[in-house]
Amino acid sequence: MLLLLLLLLLLPLVWAGSLKATARHELHVQAPTSVTVQEGLCVLVPCTFSSPRGGQGPTHGSWFKSGSPDVLVATNYLGKKRNRNTNPSFHLGDPAANNCTLAITSPQKEDSGEYYFCMDRGKNRTHCGRHMLTVLVRELTQAPNIEVEASLQAGRPSLLTCSLPGACAGLVPPTISWTGAALRPGSAWHDSAELQLTPRPRDHGTHLTCRVSLCRPGVSTERTLTLNVTYAPQNLTVGLLRGDYAELRGLANGSSLPVLEGESLRLLCAADSNPPARLSWAWGSGAPATPRPSNTGVLVLPHVEFRHEGEFTCHAQHPLGSQRVSLHLSVQSPLQLLGPSCSPEDEDADGGLLCSCSARARPAPALRWRLGEQLLEGSRSNGSVEVTLDPWGLWANSSLRLGGRALSSALTLSCEARNAREARSAALLLLPRRAGKPALGKEFVLGAVLGAGAVGLLALFSGFICFL
Ligand SMILES: *[C@@H]1O[C@H](CO)[C@@H](O)[C@H](O)[C@H]1NC(C)=O
Ligand SMILES: *[C@@H]1O[C@H](CO)[C@@H](O)[C@H](O)[C@H]1NC(C)=O
Ligand SMILES: *[C@@H]1O[C@H](CO)[C@@H](O)[C@H](O)[C@H]1NC(C)=O
Ligand SMILES: *[C@@H]1O[C@H](CO)[C@@H](O)[C@H](O)[C@H]1NC(C)=O
Ligand SMILES: *[C@@H]1O[C@H](CO)[C@@H](O)[C@H](O)[C@H]1NC(C)=O
Ligand SMILES: *[C@@H]1O[C@H](CO)[C@@H](O)[C@H](O)[C@H]1NC(C)=O
Ligand SMILES: *[C@@H]1O[C@H](CO)[C@@H](O)[C@H](O)[C@H]1NC(C)=O
Repeated sequence: MLLLLLLLLLLPLVWAGSLKATARHELHVQAPTSVTVQEGLCVLVPCTFSSPRGGQGPTHGSWFKSGSPDVLVATNYLGKKRNRNTNPSFHLGDPAANNCTLAITSPQKEDSGEYYFCMDRGKNRTHCGRHMLTVLVRELTQAPNIEVEASLQAGRPSLLTCSLPGACAGLVPPTISWTGAALRPGSAWHDSAELQLTPRPRDHGTHLTCRVSLCRPGVSTERTLTLNVTYAPQNLTVGLLRGDYAELRGLANGSSLPVLEGESLRLLCAADSNPPARLSWAWGSGAPATPRPSNTGVLVLPHVEFRHEGEFTCHAQHPLGSQRVSLHLSVQSPLQLLGPSCSPEDEDADGGLLCSCSARARPAPALRWRLGEQLLEGSRSNGSVEVTLDPWGLWANSSLRLGGRALSSALTLSCEARNAREARSAALLLLPRRAGKPALGKEFVLGAVLGAGAVGLLALFSGFICFL
């Protein structure tokens, strides 16, 4: 209460000048001493006056801009020609109710100056207040506001409203225009201030500008909004990271990825969405991948094992929709070839040889023998040649029994292994024992050459070595 009382006591000081009406100025005007308004905006200057006693007839009030000469800017005096030259930006309250409130709408810079209020009643002379109102019209700096009805979501229409705070209905409404990459021929405009926008994912992060232009050339203001469009994951891709993460090879959904056993593997899963989707990898039937799951979308298998063979699925979870992409990891192992090697068959009467050859790979290799020009495939047996194949797991083992009669002349014996990825072969040369030499119970001896893919020949001849 005390504070209120204090304020009421101070109030007259605020309305400076109102108490100073002289005898000549019998009008007591209560209004602020100065007001600042931006060009094109508007302001209401509250004002009351206490009229001198006496006089009959309608009360007329007028605001003048002081100068040489003084200029009438607003009046309710409709007679004569007084109102013809008033300023369209100045509007007067109701002087009949002792109200000299002045509304200034869309002023121009030239409207800056000092103003005073006068009144007259009936035929009595005009009474002017001594009170001076200073109006300062500044440059327009106020930026418009852009209101977004709801958060922008791809594919959903949203209403955007642009308005200039502080602007009021002037004589000529300001023009509002929009520019931005998100606007396209289909955009619906309610009126220039309202824009109905149905954003697309690619509109996220683009700029949208609302520009308010006042009727005076060169007077305009604008605001630019960076669109935040939420959208579900799109273009979910998985890729293979090699080396220092520099190389990325995209993999199609459902594709098969061959990896060598023991290799280190890094799979990347990436999705385009806003806000970012939650990425996770699952291995096998949907259980989260035991090999180090990550929410960055990178799956690391430091040492690929055969048990890793199977389906890997990347899930991108997002409030607006989820996606998944899977790939089949097929674990392979390089082809190793052991053999061929042969040894004499001790108990064999005809001096035969027993040769063996093994290959290991994943996918499992197929083995075959080549004796001279002749290809020996599969398990077979006849009197002189016997081939047995024993595939087991990653191994393909084969043995070849050569009867003495099959070895009447020098022959190359090769073992060939192949799978879908690679092929290798190794060979050795079988030489008949030189005639006349004492048979050490064996007709043939052999040399073995181990080589990867190439055929080198080294033959051991009973008792000495022969290079070919
Ligand atoms: C004019 O105003 C004066 C006081 O200022 C008053 O005495 C007089 O009666 C008024 N005349 C008319 C015609 O209203
Ligand atoms: C004076 O007139 C203005 C504009 O017409 C109005 O907004 C204001 O409320 C009035 N003031 C009083 C004290 O009646
Ligand atoms: C975009 O909108 C989303 C959801 O409304 C919000 O989580 C995110 O912080 C916003 N991003 C920016 C840059 O404003
Ligand atoms: C996402 O997919 C769409 C349609 O397939 C395509 O137009 C767009 O360029 C893709 N974006 C990226 C970043 O790959
Ligand atoms: C990938 O394939 C699966 C199964 O066919 C399917 O459910 C999924 O939607 C596909 N993902 C993408 C991104 O196409
Ligand atoms: C046994 O098979 C080998 C290889 O096919 C062939 O060279 C040989 O003549 C055959 N021997 C007999 C007795 O059929
Ligand atoms: C095949 O040969 C390899 C190498 O000699 C051996 O380790 C493996 O046990 C053999 N497999 C079978 C089923 O004999």
